Amino acid sequence: MAMTSLERAEAAEHAMSQELDRIVVKSAIYTSGERDPRQPLPPQQSQGKLYMMGHDPRLPLMPEKPTLFDFFKLRFGPSAHVLQSARLAKKNGVSEKIVLGCLLHDISAMGFIRGDHGYWGAQLVEPYVDEEVSWAIRHHQVLRFFADESYGYKYPDSYIRLFGADFTPEPHIQEAHRRAREHKWYESSRLITVNDLYSFDPNVRVELEEFTDVVGRHFRQPKEGLGFDQSPSAHMWRTINHPTKYL
Ligand SMILES: [Fe+2]
Ligand SMILES: [Fe+2]
Repeated sequence: MAMTSLERAEAAEHAMSQELDRIVVKSAIYTSGERDPRQPLPPQQSQGKLYMMGHDPRLPLMPEKPTLFDFFKLRFGPSAHVLQSARLAKKNGVSEKIVLGCLLHDISAMGFIRGDHGYWGAQLVEPYVDEEVSWAIRHHQVLRFFADESYGYKYPDSYIRLFGADFTPEPHIQEAHRRAREHKWYESSRLITVNDLYSFDPNVRVELEEFTDVVGRHFRQPKEGLGFDQSPSAHMWRTINHPTKYL
């Protein structure tokens, strides 16, 4: 019987996992939808092999005490968008805290989880930044869906292309927007959306190091390294560092 495309993908994946010393079992969230998460996992040829419990050799090795910039360089996807947003925010004269918010606003989409990326991103950085910064990051995702002419912010054309002209945010997002409007830090989050532009100048290459000082002043790097400091989000940084650990 011919293999289905899913079976072929699983076979290829199985062959790849055989080249590793350790058995890798993907977290349900990696594959949910591509496969039915209720089904048992295909059997692994596990004789004599141990399961992955640390560094995945397919990924670059992180330093023992990783910093925010190490995650940008070794785990996150391309960062041109957030670097350009932060540069634009600086040019527009916003506070350093908001520049930091712009630099960090999409890190979850870049390196962790896309859906609800504002919430996940805020949680990642919450122990290390002022509450205003994490609040602004959390809500930028929601505010992006709602125009505010008083800040010159229009509903993004890109969202019409991406989600269709008839897309409407779900009721809980609408409620989050209503509440955010009333909040004392509404403007901080709105300013992230105002500077949340894609390639406003495609010829400008922005280096991460341009923000070394801003990060140094407003991001409290733990001395143990991100992931190893017992903070409420340390486990999330560890998961980005070691995404294929069995437990
Ligand atoms: Fe975003
Ligand atoms: Fe963005």
